Amino acid sequence: MLDRLTAQPADPLLALIRLHAADERPGKIDLGVGVYRDESGATPVFRAVKEAEERLLRRQDSKSYLGPEGSREFVTALRPWVFDAAGETAHCVSGMQTPGGTGAVRLALALVKKAGGRRVLLGTPSWPNHRQIIDDLGLDAVEFVHVHDGGADADGLMALLEDCTARDAVILHGCCHNPTGIDYDAAQWSAIADALARTGVLPIVDVAYQGLGRGMHEDLAGLRAVLDRVDAALVAYSCDKNFGLYRDRVGALFVAAKDQDVVERACSNANALARANWSMPPDHGAAAAAIVLEDAGLVRMWQDELDSMRDRIARMRTALASGESRVPGIGLEAVGQGNGLFAMLLLDATQVERLRTEHAVYMAGSGRINVAGLTDAKVDAFLSALEQVCR
Ligand code: LMR
Repeated sequence: MLDRLTAQPADPLLALIRLHAADERPGKIDLGVGVYRDESGATPVFRAVKEAEERLLRRQDSKSYLGPEGSREFVTALRPWVFDAAGETAHCVSGMQTPGGTGAVRLALALVKKAGGRRVLLGTPSWPNHRQIIDDLGLDAVEFVHVHDGGADADGLMALLEDCTARDAVILHGCCHNPTGIDYDAAQWSAIADALARTGVLPIVDVAYQGLGRGMHEDLAGLRAVLDRVDAALVAYSCDKNFGLYRDRVGALFVAAKDQDVVERACSNANALARANWSMPPDHGAAAAAIVLEDAGLVRMWQDELDSMRDRIARMRTALASGESRVPGIGLEAVGQGNGLFAMLLLDATQVERLRTEHAVYMAGSGRINVAGLTDAKVDAFLSALEQVCR
């Protein structure tokens, strides 16, 4: 039977990790996969997480199963950062731990499918895994354009929503849009929220970068606007970036609905789906995150680390934007307006390839760069490389 399978290409983004590691050229620049890097180019474990892991090692007396919903302690401790921060009062909320944000998105879309949903609206470009999961579940992706003339474009989505019903869902990037870094403004969020309320389309808000855009509270302004208007929403949350827990796979799926019974039924289905998919999420990272979230001192340490990450990203954005005069017309100026790790440069596949082969600059084939992959010392080399391939 297995000989019927055709080989699949490696995920191009993840393939960059290996290619970059194997490159022995000094001064190579990694703007590929979305991990935060500090000024030395490293992705260190957060100090608050290290401390929490030490406490966990001393305190944990069992590794027995917890169940498909994972660590309740973690979800309870995370919830106020998502929902109280979102000013949410009118909804009943329940959540469960998932293996990373991907697990949460997968579960959210599997719930849509199980509930008889058909179409999932998706702005393009988007994080490639969104489309892969929609396709893998056999749902219909309906795409709209996310960015127009360098700004977020809500018009395409609004037009589509008018033809949708309560059997449809939409994936919205809560903040720090991946891959463009361009988020909706307050007026756009508000118009989208009104349209969602009018049509009953279910919002799946993917919150993968809280704290890396404008701030923990500011980054959930869009979610607040949506929750203000809709009866029900799903929130897929990732701790990969804002706790630096990437490989430990820490995430959560929250169900918010006005009707407690709806929340309970959705969660019981999410539990069953999790059991059939991965049975139970890995515990270690979530247990460490819970220790951070429950300790005021560790929360301060965590927030200080996030603040300095955010400041560094903003500095790199400003430095890139000031390169507009050196390399005009590829979107450098707009990088200064974006949020979070990512920005899109208007480069074609050949230019991206030349950056890699001739200048040891690694980025996604789409022209997406991870701004945090740059350092003060490397900005000039990157701009020079761009000058050469864009000549
Ligand atoms: C990214 O977009 O680079 C990250 O979210 C990593 C991933 O899983 O794709």
